[in-house]
Amino acid sequence: MIEAHHLSKVYDRGLYALRDLSLTVEHGEFVFLTGPSGAGKSTLLRLLLRQELASEGELVVDGEHLSDLTASQVQAYRRSIGFIFQDFKLIPRKTVLENVAFVPRVLSASATQQRRKTFQVLKWVGLQHRMNAYPVELSGGEQQRVAIARALVNDPMLVLADEPTGNLDPDLSLEIMNLLREINARGTTVLVATHDRELIRRVGRRAITLDHGQIVEVMDGDRGDGVVVRPVTAV
Ligand SMILES: Nc1ncnc2c1ncn2[C@@H]1O[C@H](COP(=O)(O)OP(=O)(O)OP(=O)(O)O)[C@@H](O)[C@H]1O
Ligand SMILES: [Mg+2]
Repeated sequence: MIEAHHLSKVYDRGLYALRDLSLTVEHGEFVFLTGPSGAGKSTLLRLLLRQELASEGELVVDGEHLSDLTASQVQAYRRSIGFIFQDFKLIPRKTVLENVAFVPRVLSASATQQRRKTFQVLKWVGLQHRMNAYPVELSGGEQQRVAIARALVNDPMLVLADEPTGNLDPDLSLEIMNLLREINARGTTVLVATHDRELIRRVGRRAITLDHGQIVEVMDGDRGDGVVVRPVTAV
């Protein structure tokens, strides 16, 4: 699903945010990216989202060479990815329902299909009863569940999450990870950047540690001992 070949990203003054990084993430895998602040985790996610281009090397996602995409291909490519941020990035003046429905429309989907899909994902994250609430009326964990619903409404092939539990307590963090594991169990590839070594241990998936833009350690997950804290129904 993801192939990085000798990837480097150089910012001003010769700072290498990523340096000669090569990795492969298989289709359907769940992989953590970890490492200290400034290691290059968010940079790699930005390159994967095609917000920025690599300075050197190649990044291939689902067969697409990201450096070769035209502007319209970039739009289509981004629509095939779900992105989840640490600070949720919900639109404050829109309701839960509107936040989830307010994603680039899949051209083939009718308004009815879009609405049905929106209800489905909100139900799946357990928030259908709050769909008319505004983000400010929700707890942090609820806001992150809305962000996850929004990332899933277009059935992405790949979900990228940058510190999705950075603002949440350990129980809520595990709950959010369980949602991501459920998504993964349905075949979506998931890549999560996190500082939280304890969470990685509990979830028990492959973890790639970056430092100064390079891979310094790869741990194979033992599939963890994290318990599903809330029953979830499949979409
Ligand atoms: N737009 C930019 N311009 C210049 N330098 C940048 C830019 N974005 C990131 N960097 C630098 O690149 C390096 C990697 O940053 P990155 O944000 O990828 O780290 P990170 O692993 O996500 O860190 P954190 O855990 O703090 O989120 C850092 O040294 C950072 O200062
Ligand atoms: Mg970061």
